[in-house]
Amino acid sequence: MGGGVGGQHAESEKAARTRAREQASVSVTADNVAQQPPEIAAEAGRRRTFAVISHPDAGKSTLTEALALHAAAISSAGAVHGKGDRRGVTSDWLEMEQARGISITSAALRIDYGGCVLNLLDTPGHADFSEDTYRVLSAVDCAIMLLDSAKGLEPQTLKLFDVCRARRMPVITFVNKWDRPGREPLELLDEVEQRIGLRPTPMNWPVGIAGDFRGLIDRADGSYTKMHRTPGGATRAIEERMDPAQAAEVEQEAWVQAQEEVELLGEIGAHFDEESFLAGVSSPVLFGAALPNFGVSQLLDVLVGLAPAPKDQPDAAGVGRPVTAAFSGQVFKMQANMDKAHRDRMAFVRVNSGRFERGMVLTHAATGRPFATKYTQAVFGSERSTIDTAYPGDVIALVNAAALSVGDTLYVGPKVEFPPIPSFAPEHFAVARAKDVGRYKQFQRGIAQLDSEGVVQVLASDVRGEQAPVLAAVGPLQFDVVKHRMEHEFRAPIELAHLDYSLARRTDAASAPAAHALSGAEVLTRRSDGELLVLVHNKWRLRVIERDNPNLVLEPLLAGGVETDN
Ligand code: G4P
Repeated sequence: MGGGVGGQHAESEKAARTRAREQASVSVTADNVAQQPPEIAAEAGRRRTFAVISHPDAGKSTLTEALALHAAAISSAGAVHGKGDRRGVTSDWLEMEQARGISITSAALRIDYGGCVLNLLDTPGHADFSEDTYRVLSAVDCAIMLLDSAKGLEPQTLKLFDVCRARRMPVITFVNKWDRPGREPLELLDEVEQRIGLRPTPMNWPVGIAGDFRGLIDRADGSYTKMHRTPGGATRAIEERMDPAQAAEVEQEAWVQAQEEVELLGEIGAHFDEESFLAGVSSPVLFGAALPNFGVSQLLDVLVGLAPAPKDQPDAAGVGRPVTAAFSGQVFKMQANMDKAHRDRMAFVRVNSGRFERGMVLTHAATGRPFATKYTQAVFGSERSTIDTAYPGDVIALVNAAALSVGDTLYVGPKVEFPPIPSFAPEHFAVARAKDVGRYKQFQRGIAQLDSEGVVQVLASDVRGEQAPVLAAVGPLQFDVVKHRMEHEFRAPIELAHLDYSLARRTDAASAPAAHALSGAEVLTRRSDGELLVLVHNKWRLRVIERDNPNLVLEPLLAGGVETDN
């Protein structure tokens, strides 16, 4: 308006310059958004990026295979995958993993289904925790909580669910192994509601008790899908759709009982509600059995229909970066040594905005340096394929990524930086020493490298000295990875002496000397960010310390918003 022109006389030169700069930068940003390929919004809208959280043995690998099989079976009708094939997508990079038959690494499996691209990020399946598991959850928009119908909520599921809750992440619940004897469905739902406060809203309901799984009632329209096994569960289950009258005739008693339970669900108002689902307050529940592929297409349909597409990600200043803006992404995982033929280091990047094209030169926000992307891959397990284009929600693997660290932002155009991925509260601590003092240089290099990759957190103090850093981990398996890599990759075998601490608190420079003088506690500096951490034996000792020293700064470490109870 005219006021702006009149006001210019009063505006100082400096203010005018600042305003011009701001306008210029706004127009650069606007240009940048305007120049983006028009399909980005649509491509982002059809992405569903999720992870499965579960306790070991609940059936995560089986479900992953079933989802892939299902989607593949649809695109290449008649494809038969034996169990041998099913093992094909499990992660098996490190020799140690192969020896133990466990999966330590994480990658993404892409499934094309129902016009959507489903990106399933793999989380480690073993009993020990590692920070990787948590970091993967920072790169997804939704989680599937997989429960064993006989066991209900188990410890690892609870821990992972806490991370989802802290991030207010939408959670879909899949009750697995319904083909085996298990618990009452209503009892399982009750457990979910009572123990974790997540309101279950069943999307379907099983006909036949656990162990006598006949099929599923779709609560939306009351229709019935009878499931028929295929030999060995190697292909998709055969699904026979029936209307309620037919179903009543075929299933008899089991149908009557299931109907009564469905009516009860209606009476207690257990209906799907989008708002509370997206806020992580209620959870759509599905029943099934991954092994014979029962209920898998229903789960895929819910992912496509209800799971959220990638949203605008807040940058470090809290401003949402539109998914349609120029390319940006964040490293959520580093992986070394995936290919024995050449020692490479790979960065897994979740695309947050824009279109990624192989060959693009990105800017590394932490250093301002260019990062060439000639070699970019989609990786799952031992399979790799070159990736040419990616959209928000997709995961790309950048090779030769020695300069990158977990949490780093890469972008094109005007600078953007996403907030760091929180480092999680360590619960296991050990002092590392080089077995061969003659290889101290390699020892130092290896420890620094593993620290920057986020394999463990490295803590140090003047008292302990450079030769004896303290390694801090969320799960003890991280120590095994460090030992293995120090020996085989850096040729600097180490000894680890476990420390009798089980929790850490953040302190400040003023409180550090007093905290260090406490018995049963020690102050160390975290190398990656310079934070001062107080290590304490256990929560009882901490309580005494807090009671006796009310003025000491002892802040809980945010494990992605989660404080573990130890
Ligand atoms: P995880 O990745 O969560 O650790 O579990 P995984 O898929 O390996 O499954 C653990 C066990 O549970 C496997 O049996 C698997 O076959 C079985 N399982 C998974 N889903 C179902 C299901 O829906 N129904 C039934 N009946 N079993 C299921 P295993 O004996 O340990 O291994 P395997 O010999 O079958 O390979």
